[in-house]
Amino acid sequence: MKSAQSHYERAKQVLPGGVNSSTRVNRALGVPLYVSHAKGSRVWDIEGREIIDMSCAHGAALLGHAHPAIDDALKKARNMGYVSTFETEYHEELARLVCEYVPCAEKVRFCSSGSEATLHLIRACRGYTGRTKIIRFEGHFHGYHELIYIGGHPPREAFPGNRVHPYIESPGIPEHYADYIIPVPYNDPEALKEVIDRHGNETALVILEPVNFNCGGIKPQPGYLELLRKLTRDTGIVLFFDEIQSSFKKSRGGAQEDFGVKPDVCTIGKSLGGGLPLSAFCGKAEIMDMFQPVGPVQHSGTFNAHLVPILAGLAFLREIAKPGFYEYLRKLETLFDEGIRNIIEDHNLNMIVPRHGARFNIMLGRKTPAFRYEDTFCHDSKVMLNIIKACWEKGVYFHDYGGGPLHHGYSSQHTEEDINRVLNILGEVLKNIAKK
Ligand SMILES: Cc1ncc(COP(=O)(O)O)c(C=O)c1O
Repeated sequence: MKSAQSHYERAKQVLPGGVNSSTRVNRALGVPLYVSHAKGSRVWDIEGREIIDMSCAHGAALLGHAHPAIDDALKKARNMGYVSTFETEYHEELARLVCEYVPCAEKVRFCSSGSEATLHLIRACRGYTGRTKIIRFEGHFHGYHELIYIGGHPPREAFPGNRVHPYIESPGIPEHYADYIIPVPYNDPEALKEVIDRHGNETALVILEPVNFNCGGIKPQPGYLELLRKLTRDTGIVLFFDEIQSSFKKSRGGAQEDFGVKPDVCTIGKSLGGGLPLSAFCGKAEIMDMFQPVGPVQHSGTFNAHLVPILAGLAFLREIAKPGFYEYLRKLETLFDEGIRNIIEDHNLNMIVPRHGARFNIMLGRKTPAFRYEDTFCHDSKVMLNIIKACWEKGVYFHDYGGGPLHHGYSSQHTEEDINRVLNILGEVLKNIAKK
């Protein structure tokens, strides 16, 4: 029988750390999850185990794995010759649907990853305003590139000094990139007013995850997004919602529809490609028209908007527009929410599970909602890894992400039976952890 461990040892000889993405080794398992195939809510590992997937490709597989509509899109792409570097009628059709679904989208450009999307849209915001600084929120994540992988998740010991010298999150990013970053605590109106008062006229954009899935699933407090909208509008700063994770999870329009606040621009991604690499950035026409060949700002790439993900994206957007799609997700959400609340109550667990649509976070160490990054320091990553490991042994996969209070979720192909099974397993595991 093939073994994950022996495969991992071989992979390490040719891939740094044995993987192609730093967080792909699940530290609870000690190896990456080596998958032989996937279908619906399940993945099968190379050792032949069938597992309920509660990672769903970090949120990209909202339709589950190998959805028939995506399969048909792939067949269509094959029949068309998999063309890249050309526009087709489907590119326009997809763009029209994005503009119809996403409130702020008047024009849109497609690319492959979330990091690419934030990078290019930040460039457009700077080109549009002629300003350079970026106001961002602690705990929020916007991709791994030099422009923004700064000041998001400073270690506890670098905090709160992070606000004076924004913490550079990876060696290799030159120090001076931090000069452009102004980190602010989320959900703190006074702190926001103060930085906008002080730096408004040199700030190009305020970027945020409206639902902070990348740190505890923290939601905006009532009135906070409205305040942000007003302050940015008054000072000519571009309001940038990074909806790479939140797009399509609860509604077709994303968090901007869910909370009723329209940013100037946004990124969307992950599930957009139905499991294939597709992301997009969109917004007001006057900002999007900053891009060449209309305006001066560069955004180009051989594989931008490759036909295969474009057709998959079209299939995805048609699928989520079908009657009953979000009603079904809401049914799963309610089932999961009630189940997890009962588990927490029955065993008097010190944890919360905030959710937004088909995605939820597990945060240990508190019983009340967190409002900002430092409220999540109570989360115990070691205990989280034990939970992930115990669930894995019982046939449920949660991704590790360093054991942090990060996100998990289900897809439209998860059944109520799947969710009940996950709840039973979580119940058993959490009960045992609580006893220790
Ligand atoms: C809010 C947000 N922005 C940007 C990114 C980066 O996306 P990608 O991993 O596709 O580069 C992510 C990825 O998790 C994300 O959650």
